[in-house]
Amino acid sequence: MEYLKISQILKDQPVGKEITVKGWLRSVRKNKSFSFLVLNDGTCQGTLQVIVDADAVENYEEVSSLLIGSCVRIDGLIVESGGKGQSVEMQGKAVEIYGKTDESYPLQKKGTSLEFLREKAHLRPRTNLFGAVFRVRHQLAMATHKFFDQQGFYYLNSPILTAVDAEGAGEMFQVSTMDLANIPKHKDGSVDYSTDYFGKETSLCVTGQLEGECFAMGMGSVYTFGPTFRAENSNTPRHLSEFWMIEPEVAFMDLEGNAKLAQDYIQFLIKHTMENTSEELEAIDKFLGFQAKQNKEKYESHLPILEKVRDTKFEVISYTDAIDILNKSGKKFEFKPEWGVELQTEHERFLSEEHFKGPVTVTDYPKDCKAFYMKQNEDGRTVRAMDVLVPGVGEIIGGSQREEDLGKLKQRISEMGMHEDPLWWYLELRKFGTAPHSGFGLGFERAIRYVTGMSNIRDVIPFPRTPKNCDF
Ligand code: 4AD
Ligand code: MG
Repeated sequence: MEYLKISQILKDQPVGKEITVKGWLRSVRKNKSFSFLVLNDGTCQGTLQVIVDADAVENYEEVSSLLIGSCVRIDGLIVESGGKGQSVEMQGKAVEIYGKTDESYPLQKKGTSLEFLREKAHLRPRTNLFGAVFRVRHQLAMATHKFFDQQGFYYLNSPILTAVDAEGAGEMFQVSTMDLANIPKHKDGSVDYSTDYFGKETSLCVTGQLEGECFAMGMGSVYTFGPTFRAENSNTPRHLSEFWMIEPEVAFMDLEGNAKLAQDYIQFLIKHTMENTSEELEAIDKFLGFQAKQNKEKYESHLPILEKVRDTKFEVISYTDAIDILNKSGKKFEFKPEWGVELQTEHERFLSEEHFKGPVTVTDYPKDCKAFYMKQNEDGRTVRAMDVLVPGVGEIIGGSQREEDLGKLKQRISEMGMHEDPLWWYLELRKFGTAPHSGFGLGFERAIRYVTGMSNIRDVIPFPRTPKNCDF
């Protein structure tokens, strides 16, 4: 008998055909002479209702007493459904029980809290909500590859192990095979890395940008899409210790081109997910509305707003103007906006949510707020940086035009107290055939949060890693 996934059955509606389905029980309603089993297999939002007659299957007693979460294989006939809200259903002919559950199965009732589900991260893929979120995540990944491929970019796998602190922020997870209880030291007390695996200090990457630049300076346009790691002690709904980042890097592109690329990419992501996962987006929206109602909060669906963002040009303003807007807003912030200091999340959210009511690209930040590699402006105070801020999340993209002048770059590295040595190869890009170039990084989970409307970043990555939390 042909085995069909539920997404296929609901799409093709093979009425009159005998087929096999496999999945987990969402509900069981038992009557004396027949039972309803509702099955989901994770391939779509939809479920398949199976009617099992007592005299149709030999193990009826066992089947009709199955609990939610049990896993079964059912052979049966697809028929048109008389029930509301479903097109077809199945008349069960044989049921094989793969795995039963018991009363301790944690996903018993609807409306379980997101916090609770985080502790059951191994089981949450079986819920309606997480099925939806992770199908959207999948489509956002597909959209990313499609967008950059169509634009003539090459997909680059940048290394995860690295000997450079590419953001210069010191937020690196060290990688070592040394015996931590017995670390070899030099006479002056510093660690002797010569006996370590790589013979030098190494860490997990915080970005793939610098390697991306090497390839952009040879292949024109590339993008990375991989995991990145930050040992920052931020316990917020928008920070993870391990997150995924997409980093395009383009030769001969200036900051204006960079901002345009960022806008086109975000709009493509929205368009693609709206076309391919509309059921999922609506299911998530419904959940969020329900959750808000339970918490007695007001809820406004973000789906109509997303549609507008998909079709409207993003606002672009300078950092200096942004500080001005914040200071003239009359709004009381926890941190007073001050020129020279990086924008806080509350500032970013005010700008995008309340002032512009949509995505806004902020450019030309003070050089002391940003990384060493950004192109310095003539004014000597600012750099050609850009952050894209969106409602609900704040910063979703960080990027810049890169400093292509060897002398200026070296000077900045020394001003920031960094060491040139590990960056010798990066500096050689400026020594041999340098060129203007730009790029940015999109935080994948922040983009998923933005598109789905989910409010905590821990609920859009399969297994979140945050300070003091590395379970599963
Ligand atoms: O602004 P960031 O630090 O920029 C870079 O890493 C550059 N190398 C990118 C580039 O120009 N190629 O990080 C880029 C984006 C942020 O805008 C944010 O969306 C996300 O990565 N991000 C995080 N997401 C989740 N958890 C964290 N701890 C994040 N830190 C940054
Ligand atoms: Mg940033």
